[in-house]
Amino acid sequence: MSEAVPILSTHGLVAGYGDFQALFGVDFEIVPGEIVALIGANGAGKSTFLRAIMGLLPSRRDMIRFDGAPIGGAPTHSMVGRGITMVPEGRRLFTGMTVEDNLRIAMDCARSSARRSESAPWTIERLHELFPILADKRGTPVERLSGGQQQMVAIARALLGQPRLLLCDELSLGLAPAVIRDIYRSLPLISATGTAMILVEQDVGLAKTTSHRLYCMLEGRMTLTGRSENLDQAAITDAYFGSHHAVA
Ligand SMILES: Nc1ncnc2c1ncn2[C@@H]1O[C@H](COP(=O)(O)OP(=O)(O)O)[C@@H](O)[C@H]1O
Ligand SMILES: [Mg+2]
Repeated sequence: MSEAVPILSTHGLVAGYGDFQALFGVDFEIVPGEIVALIGANGAGKSTFLRAIMGLLPSRRDMIRFDGAPIGGAPTHSMVGRGITMVPEGRRLFTGMTVEDNLRIAMDCARSSARRSESAPWTIERLHELFPILADKRGTPVERLSGGQQQMVAIARALLGQPRLLLCDELSLGLAPAVIRDIYRSLPLISATGTAMILVEQDVGLAKTTSHRLYCMLEGRMTLTGRSENLDQAAITDAYFGSHHAVA
C-alpha cells in the first residue's frame, strides 16, 4: 500500500488561531483505501490538523496536497467538492429532524455538489446495511437516539457526500464499548470502497487495531509514525507523553 500515490499529504504544515500557533511543521500522507489513526493527548493539535485539511483554518497552498495538487487554504466547499468530508467532534446533527431527514438533506447536498456525476457507492439503502439500526429508527428524531446511534447518523451523513477522504474526530468519545465496537466494525467496510480515512482517536488500543498506519502528535508536532502492527507500546507511550525520543 505504501507504494501507492498519496491522496492527501501535508508538508511542513503550520496552522493556528490568530497569534496562537497549534501546528509546527506537520508532514503526513495517506493513500486511497488506507485507514490512518492519529493519536495524541488532549490539546495536541489533532482537531486543528483536521480543520486545516478541511480549509477551516488558513494555511499556505503548498502545505496541503490532494491528488498531488496544492490545495492548502482553499475554501471548505472546494475541499468538500474534491471529496473530503469530516465527521466532526460532537456530531452536529440537525436536531428536531428524523434520521431519514438528516440523511435526505445530505443526499440533496451531495447531488448538488461537483461530485454528483461520479459513481455514488453510498445510498441510504447501503447505509442501512452498514448500520441496520438506522433503518429501524428512520422516523425517530435524532435527539432521541443514543449517542452511538447519533454517531452512526453522523458517519452515514458524511458517507452520502461520497468521500474519497473521510476525516473522523473522536468517534468513540463518550460511547459505550459495545456500540464503539459496532461503529469500528464498519470502518474496514468503508475503506474497502477505496475511501481513505483519518481517525482521530483517544483510545490508543482501538486506534492501533483499527488502522493500517498510525501517527502520534504531541504539542503540534508528529512524534511517531509507522505501520500500526509494528509499533510497540513503549514507543507509543513515549511519543504520546513526550520524552527524549527522536521523531521516528
Ligand atoms: N478555536 C480555538 N481558538 C484558540 N485556540 C484553540 C482553538 N481550538 C483549539 N485551540 C488550541 O489549539 C491547541 C490544539 O487544540 P486541538 O487541535 O483542539 O487539540 P486536540 O484535538 O488534539 O485535543 C490547544 O492548545 C488548544 O487550546
Ligand atoms: Mg480534538
